Amino acid sequence: MPFVQWDESMNLGKASIDQQHRGLFDLVNILYEAMGSKAEAEVVEDCVDAMSRYCLEHFRDEENYMALIGFPDLPTHKELHQAFMQQTSVLVDALDQGQSPFQEALFALVRWLDEHIRQEDVRYIQFARDNGLAAEPD
Ligand SMILES: [Fe+2]
Ligand SMILES: [Fe+2]
Repeated sequence: MPFVQWDESMNLGKASIDQQHRGLFDLVNILYEAMGSKAEAEVVEDCVDAMSRYCLEHFRDEENYMALIGFPDLPTHKELHQAFMQQTSVLVDALDQGQSPFQEALFALVRWLDEHIRQEDVRYIQFARDNGLAAEPD
């Protein structure tokens, strides 16, 4: 049973972005399992690292797309992404404090991701649709 389950209701309708969101959830599950199996600290650290890099890449792609479609709230959305990246460093700190602080930090991160997709990412997709840009290539 995975730690977090992807939910179809999170699909935004832009394939490349949806795929990345799903990939992020997969990484969270891999990370959770690595932690639960008492894997070497380095393995878990590598997973956290991979997730941070994946997030950076995803945020960059989203920001490029928002710039491309002229989404007016791009600066605010960018700030949210930056705040999230800080949260991943909380995860790194929690690693040193043991399993339950780490799980708690991971939960917080998943909650953030879930809310961000449903409440924030959906806004630039809606903007694209409203402006007839929904068919923009991935
Ligand atoms: Fe996103
Ligand atoms: Fe976003």
